[in-house]
Amino acid sequence: MDFLDLPQLCSASGSVRLPGSKSISNRVLLLAALSEGETEVRDLLASDDTERMLDALKALGLGVVHLGGENWRITGSGGRFPVKQAELFLGNAGTAFRPLTAALALAGGDYVLKGVARMHERPIGDLIDGLRQLGADITYLANEGYPPLHLKPANIQPGGVVKVRGDVSSQFLTGLLMALPLTGETVVVEVVGELISKPYIEITLATMARFGVTVERDGWQRFTIRAGSRYVSPGTIYVEGDASSASYFLALGAIGGGPVRVEGVGRDSIQGDVKFAEALAEMGAQIAMGPNWMEARAPAGGLVAVDLDCNHIPDAAMTLATAALFAKGTTTLRNIASWRVKETDRIAAMATELRKLGAEVEEGADYIRVTPAALHPAAIDTYDDHRMAMCFSLAAFGTPLRINDPKCVAKTFPDYFERFAAVTRAAPVIAIDGPSASGKGTVAARVADALGYAYLDSGALYRLTALAAKQAGIDWADEAGVAGLAAVLDVAFSGSDILLNGALVGDAIRTEEMSAGASKVAALPAVREALLFRQRAFNTLPGLVGDGRDMGSVIFPQAPLKVFLTASAEARAERRYKQLIEKGFSANLADLLADLQQRDARDSQRSVAPLRQEADAKLLDTTHLTIEQAVNQVLAWAREASL
Ligand code: DC
Repeated sequence: MDFLDLPQLCSASGSVRLPGSKSISNRVLLLAALSEGETEVRDLLASDDTERMLDALKALGLGVVHLGGENWRITGSGGRFPVKQAELFLGNAGTAFRPLTAALALAGGDYVLKGVARMHERPIGDLIDGLRQLGADITYLANEGYPPLHLKPANIQPGGVVKVRGDVSSQFLTGLLMALPLTGETVVVEVVGELISKPYIEITLATMARFGVTVERDGWQRFTIRAGSRYVSPGTIYVEGDASSASYFLALGAIGGGPVRVEGVGRDSIQGDVKFAEALAEMGAQIAMGPNWMEARAPAGGLVAVDLDCNHIPDAAMTLATAALFAKGTTTLRNIASWRVKETDRIAAMATELRKLGAEVEEGADYIRVTPAALHPAAIDTYDDHRMAMCFSLAAFGTPLRINDPKCVAKTFPDYFERFAAVTRAAPVIAIDGPSASGKGTVAARVADALGYAYLDSGALYRLTALAAKQAGIDWADEAGVAGLAAVLDVAFSGSDILLNGALVGDAIRTEEMSAGASKVAALPAVREALLFRQRAFNTLPGLVGDGRDMGSVIFPQAPLKVFLTASAEARAERRYKQLIEKGFSANLADLLADLQQRDARDSQRSVAPLRQEADAKLLDTTHLTIEQAVNQVLAWAREASL
C-alpha cells in the first residue's frame, strides 16, 4: 500500500493557484459537447473525473482536442451523439455518470454505462425514474436503482411535467436539467422532497446560462425549460478554481497562522463552496476576499467550535470536521446525510479515522460531532476518497501521521500534496548518522537537550527488536517473524528510560550480543519497513534530533540539517572499551575492534538503507574532538540553519 508520512506542522503561509473546479469542468465539457460548433475550454481541471468525461466524449464521437496545459477544444454536435452504440466506463465520477446518463437517454442510442465498484453502490434510481417519465428506456444491469445501466433507443415524449426527488443527491436534478433542452419542448421539473446541496444547482443554472439556456426557477421546487432552448457555444470559456479545494488551504491558514491565499475563486464565484469561508469565519478565522481570491489567517485566541447546518457546503464541510480538531469545544456538522452516498460513506469514514487520532466523535444518520483531544500518530485510511486524504492532511498540525493511498487525490487535485508542502512548515529534524560507537548518540542527546528538541535513538529500536525476538524465541534471520514483532513492538521512551512490554530494559540492549543482533535484524528490509512510521512519529514540535544510520537518507530526507558523524575505527573501539568497563562488563579491545569493523561492513554494505554520507550531510570527524566540541559544532550548524 502506497502511503505518505506527514511530520507535525508548525505553521502555514503562502499562496496557492487552485486547479479548476471539478463541478464546473464536467458541466462545461458536457454542455460544450451538446452545443453546435467549437468551444475552447480554458483552465479545465486535470483529474481522474474530468478524464472520464473527456474519454466518454471521445468515445461518443465528439471532437476533443488537447490544446496544451489546461486548455481543450471541444467540437459539439448539437445534442446528437455521432456514435450510437458504446460502452462507457466512468470510474467513480458522479459528475460524469449522472449527467451523461440523462443526456444519452434523451439523445437516443444503445449505451452501457459502468463505473468502479463504489460507483455501482451509489444510487441513481431517482434520476432514472425522472427519465422514464419522458419515455426513456433504461435497464439496471445489476441492482435495481444502481449502475451499471443499459440505455436503449426510445420514443421520447417531450413536454409535460417531470417529477424528480431532490433529497438524495442534487446531481439527479442537475443531470435532468442539463439534458432537457435536447427534447426541444417545454418541460417543467418538479422537485419532490427538500432539495439538498442547492448551491450545486446554482452552478448548473449559471453554466447553462453561459451556454445560452435560461431556466426559469420557481423557488427550489419548480424549474421550467422553454421549447426551443438550445445550447450555443460561448466560444471561449474559463473554468473557475475549485472552491472545495480552496477549503483545505484556507483551513491551513486558519490553523497554522497564515495568511494563506487561494487564487482562482473569490467573491464573484458561482460555486457554493466559497461559503466555506463564512463557516471558517464563524470558527474565528480572519478571512479576506477579493473578486477571485480568498485569504485566511488564524485568530489570536485560536479557533472555536461551531454548530452548523452544512447542507449548502457538503464537500467543503469535510474540511470543517478536521479543522474541528483545533477548535475549542465540540463542533457539530448537521444535515450532511449526502455524505453517506459519496465516494465512500463519508460520515462513517470520517468518524473512524478521527477516532484513530484520538478525537472523540459521535455520528448520526445525518450529522457528525467532533470533540478535540491531544492527538497521537496514526495511519489514516482514505477509502479511495480524495477528500478524505486532503482534509486529513490538516490533522498534521496536531501529530505526525500517515496518509494511506495518498494518490487518490488525483480525482480532483493530482498535485495536492506538493502544494500542501509548499505552504506548510514542518517541525525541524537534525539527522545525525554515523557508524557504531562514533559518539553520535551522546552528541545527539546533548544537542536535543540544548535545543529543547525530542531525541530519537533509532539504533535502540533495532536493539529492542533484536531483544524482543530473542525473548520470543524468533531467529534473527527470520525476516517475516522479526518484522511481525517489530510492527507491534510495545516500546515506551521516557527520558533516558526505555520500557519493552512495560518492563525497564536498562543495559540489556547494550550488550555486544544485542549489538550484533541489532545489526543483523537491521539488514532485513521488512524490519526496516515495519519501524519506518514509528520513527517518523517522533517528528513533532518543537523539533527532533534523530541518530542512526539512515536518518538523513531514508527516515527524514527533508531534514534541514544532516550530519555524518564519524571517527576512526580505533578511536571508536577504544571509546566502546571504556564504556563497557565503566559499566562493569568485561571487554577485550582487539575483539571489540574486529567486531566493530565487521558491523561497519554489514551496516554499510547491506542493500537497504546502507550507512553512507548523504551529499547534503555535513561531515563531523570526532577522532580528535571532545564530546563538547562535537556538540558545539552541531549547535553552530543548527544556528546557521536557523533552527
Ligand atoms: O546506533 P546503534 O549502535 O545503537 O545501532 C544498532 C544497530 O542498528 C547497528 O548495527 C545499525 C542498526 N541501525 C540501523 O540500521 N539504522 C539506524 N537508523 C540505526 C541503527
